Amino acid sequence: MCGIVCYVGEREAKGILLEGLKRLEYRGYDSAGVAIQNGSGVHFERAVGRIADLERKIGTRPLDGTAGIAHTRWATHGEPSEANAHPHRDRDGNVFVIHNGIIENYRALKKKLEGRGVSFRSETDTEVIAHLVALHFEGDLCEAVRKTMLQLEGTFGIAVIHRQVPGKIVVARRGSPLIIGIGENCHLAASDVSAMVRHTNKVVHLLDNELAVLSSDEFSISTVQATPIERVTETVDWQADDAELNGFPHFMLKEIFEQPETVRNAIRGRLDYSEGIPRLGGIAPVWEGLKQCRHLVIVGCGTSYYAGFVGRYIFEKLTDIDVTVELASEFRYRRINFAPNTFVLALSQSGETADTLAAIREARRKGASLMGVVNVVGSSIAREAGAGVYNHAGPEIGVASTKIFTSQLTIMSLLALLLGRHHSLSLTEGIEAIRAVDALPGQISRVLSLAHAIEAMAEKYHLKSNWLFLGRKYNYPIAMEGALKLKEISYIHAEGYAAGEMKHGPIALVNPDMPTVAIAPQDSVYEKMVSNIQEIKSRRGPVIALVTEGDEEIREIADDVIEIPRTLEFLYPILSVIPLQLLAYYCAKFLHRDIDKPRNLAKSVTVE
Ligand code: F6R
Repeated sequence: MCGIVCYVGEREAKGILLEGLKRLEYRGYDSAGVAIQNGSGVHFERAVGRIADLERKIGTRPLDGTAGIAHTRWATHGEPSEANAHPHRDRDGNVFVIHNGIIENYRALKKKLEGRGVSFRSETDTEVIAHLVALHFEGDLCEAVRKTMLQLEGTFGIAVIHRQVPGKIVVARRGSPLIIGIGENCHLAASDVSAMVRHTNKVVHLLDNELAVLSSDEFSISTVQATPIERVTETVDWQADDAELNGFPHFMLKEIFEQPETVRNAIRGRLDYSEGIPRLGGIAPVWEGLKQCRHLVIVGCGTSYYAGFVGRYIFEKLTDIDVTVELASEFRYRRINFAPNTFVLALSQSGETADTLAAIREARRKGASLMGVVNVVGSSIAREAGAGVYNHAGPEIGVASTKIFTSQLTIMSLLALLLGRHHSLSLTEGIEAIRAVDALPGQISRVLSLAHAIEAMAEKYHLKSNWLFLGRKYNYPIAMEGALKLKEISYIHAEGYAAGEMKHGPIALVNPDMPTVAIAPQDSVYEKMVSNIQEIKSRRGPVIALVTEGDEEIREIADDVIEIPRTLEFLYPILSVIPLQLLAYYCAKFLHRDIDKPRNLAKSVTVE
């Protein structure tokens, strides 16, 4: 989705802004623009397409200046065009604005402004902001933005500069993330920390209905009601290197290969062998309530939802809690009556997914207690949940989520184990589980060593245009996740199904031209999966089977076999999903897709 980067300091802003925009490319966008202040002038440029197109357009144009704002746009109001790209400006070219989010009352505001003789240059909702700030401006830009905020309905993260206010940027937020970066003799602001990590790891989060004035040597935050705010500076543990390819052709592949490390990060310092119990500091604020928890509702979208789906089986296995999993995007349509002692667990990589945020706000309103498993520290969902566990997996830049999925599963396993040990799980069971979790990073490395074999399978099958993914129990959501990975980056049509449902419909599709990926480790539903594979083979459907190392039975019937190490049944998904990520990646590679930026997709879906 849209991205914001701002810089004010002693250095030339242009290079810093363009480099920051490149780091936001992964979020998905269709046009980009930049505005830079120079003395009492503002120079700006916009282009449809990639940042490289914007750079080409800027060419050797000076665009000098040490304060500027830059934006990547993902079209919502008006097609991707230069006129609709940000920054937008007022009639006299004094005010320049970039905006993430949606102004819901823009039509009414536009009508009012047109009534006052203002003419519009774009079809966007954003342009009203530029005109309103210009109308309210009486020498104090912060005040003009404040008055404008009071008129806006909807969500926004905005950054504003004014031709007559050199060396100052005003940023404001309601519902769309904005983070201030504190650098050496400079300040930055961005919608995503990864745009700033090259310059600083000291950040301050702006909260809803707050605005900030940035200059090279200071910044101040206040609320929309003009109350000054003091906020502590946080240090982010992401390194500039995390946002580099480091020799990999794509971020997706890099992130798939990071999984031994990200799973290790999820368990580091959290396993207590002697008590057979994990230690999770982040849930301390809710621990007393959590011990009484009888109902758990897990919410998330997309891959995070599928992680929650696996989580349901894990919590049901290890605890005595009733568990449901809900799509956050459907949550608002449900009439859920939360019983006492209900917790809602939100899963989100970005911590900014609008539907997930809305779901937990709704859950809180109805009396549920909240927890989150979130990757981005200080993000909206992490703050709103108030308690939970961070993934500490570093930035996930490839649009297709990979390393966060396995990290989410690992953390849910720990959480379930912790609760289970306070319910009925024995010490022996606890120690056995801890040992199995601890072995995961090494086992993931073994799965990754199969990458070349999986690449060969992708070469064999990538031209097949319909695929079926089947699994049961813990691996049913993995079938859905495998299908999602394949469709989103290779654009191959794929269905993920519960294998037991095959006879109720999908078996009609089976033919020699449709590969089925059967996830069949040696677990409690193994024999049933073997029967499903036989049913497909007897209809001449090709089968790629994912099996436990040493499995001879399935090897005899399947066309291709991928072996994963043996583990406890509830941990198999952490291993079984990895070959599916690789299979999707290599199919997309053979089809020459834009793997890290698949068409129409955005990394962080900040609108509902
Ligand atoms: C798929 C994918 C998306 C996200 C979904 C939720 O590969 O990345 O389906 O999982 O948009 O995003 P987060 O986890 O940031 O809330």
